[in-house]
Amino acid sequence: MNKNLKKRDQEVVWHPFSPVKGGFPILPLVKAEGVYLITEDGEKIIDGISSWWVNNLGHSNPEIAEELFKQAKNLSHVIFAGFTHEPAISIAEKILEHLPGQSKVFFSDNGSTSVEVALKIVMQFWKNQGQKNKKRIIALEGAYHGDTFGAMAVGERGGFNITFEPYLFDVDFLPFPTEENEEKCLAKFEDLLEKKDVAGFIFEPLIQGAAGMRIYSPKILEKLIHKAHEYNVICIADEVFTGFYRTDKLFASDYIEEKPDIFCLSKGLTAGTLPLSLTTVSTQIFESFNNSESEKALYHGHSFTGNPLGCAVALKSFEILNRVETQESHRNLCLRQTLFVEEIKNHPAITKANCLGTVLSIELKTGESSGYYNSIRESIYHFFIEKGILLRPLGNILYFLPAYIITNEQLDYVYSCIKEFLNNEKLLKLK
Ligand SMILES: Cc1ncc(COP(=O)(O)O)c(C=O)c1O
Repeated sequence: MNKNLKKRDQEVVWHPFSPVKGGFPILPLVKAEGVYLITEDGEKIIDGISSWWVNNLGHSNPEIAEELFKQAKNLSHVIFAGFTHEPAISIAEKILEHLPGQSKVFFSDNGSTSVEVALKIVMQFWKNQGQKNKKRIIALEGAYHGDTFGAMAVGERGGFNITFEPYLFDVDFLPFPTEENEEKCLAKFEDLLEKKDVAGFIFEPLIQGAAGMRIYSPKILEKLIHKAHEYNVICIADEVFTGFYRTDKLFASDYIEEKPDIFCLSKGLTAGTLPLSLTTVSTQIFESFNNSESEKALYHGHSFTGNPLGCAVALKSFEILNRVETQESHRNLCLRQTLFVEEIKNHPAITKANCLGTVLSIELKTGESSGYYNSIRESIYHFFIEKGILLRPLGNILYFLPAYIITNEQLDYVYSCIKEFLNNEKLLKLK
């Protein structure tokens, strides 16, 4: 019955983020287990990107599957306006325990919608406060916050959203902060804040994933948040990618003292099992909605808001993530990634190699300009798929971020293939 999946797929399915013709070939899967994706032909592929950065405990975790089954037999879904249930309350309690200063959780379905909710909360907060002039949003150059309209609007204008640019609201972008431009970046921030019309500042803390795994320092982020707070501007940490130990600590914001006011969480929240996201807010923000005036309520909700299956799975995932064995394996991954960066960073094919927690990124020299459309992308993808490893580079940025349960043997294999690729002058086409 599973035969010819590829052909049937071609007839009826439209895949994301791929040109209809000429993109990467579509591989039919029949199973996934641990770090492996298993194809129709029985090939095993190491998932080196945790399936778009979501799968942090490996695929088809039996305990999570068991929990899902148990929940499905009891309460699989209910409208979340006017009803509540144990899994939603418990995951909200659990997450808030780990986010000091945050007091309420709003549920949605994916990273983009968690950002939409955050932006709408910020916009409505100022309206509720009677400060209608506070409307502008500041983001960072290179930002990616998702593919819905609000999320696109606060993202870097470029290839992903250029078609929709005329429909996106205006946003001010700060230069991506580096040690060299710190003063310039802070000065521009202050200039914008001085206009007194800024409502919110949104950022991916410490690492911009889609921009090419670009890392920046907690010190400068701390200064930006501090400055924003001085001017009474709400700070939104988009931790959709960085949350749940991706950057080593539970949240990337744990690297800084001055805390953001809103958090967006998704991806690793359910260990990549079900679509679920959370937008959490501080007491001060919630208080502006905490009244009976209907025009001050947040009119936002999705059919599957607070889905009990997603919440039960998130709770189980969080418990597994925090177990001693998972933490040991995670620590080992962080250490191995750091050691590997040290080993290869001076390789002549590399401009820059970096690591933050479980995320390893390598910028390749190609003789073309650096970026998503760099043609080396195809060669990298095919080379590694042939080796039984899924790496889906961002142009000439090759990155590797596996599930935390990956073994030393599997890591050795991936590292040896990366080295083989780096030494393949033909593929790298170095000029
Ligand atoms: C930082 C960040 N925010 C938001 C999103 C959007 O999440 P989703 O694809 O679940 O809508 C992503 C996705 O990669 C992301 O990396």
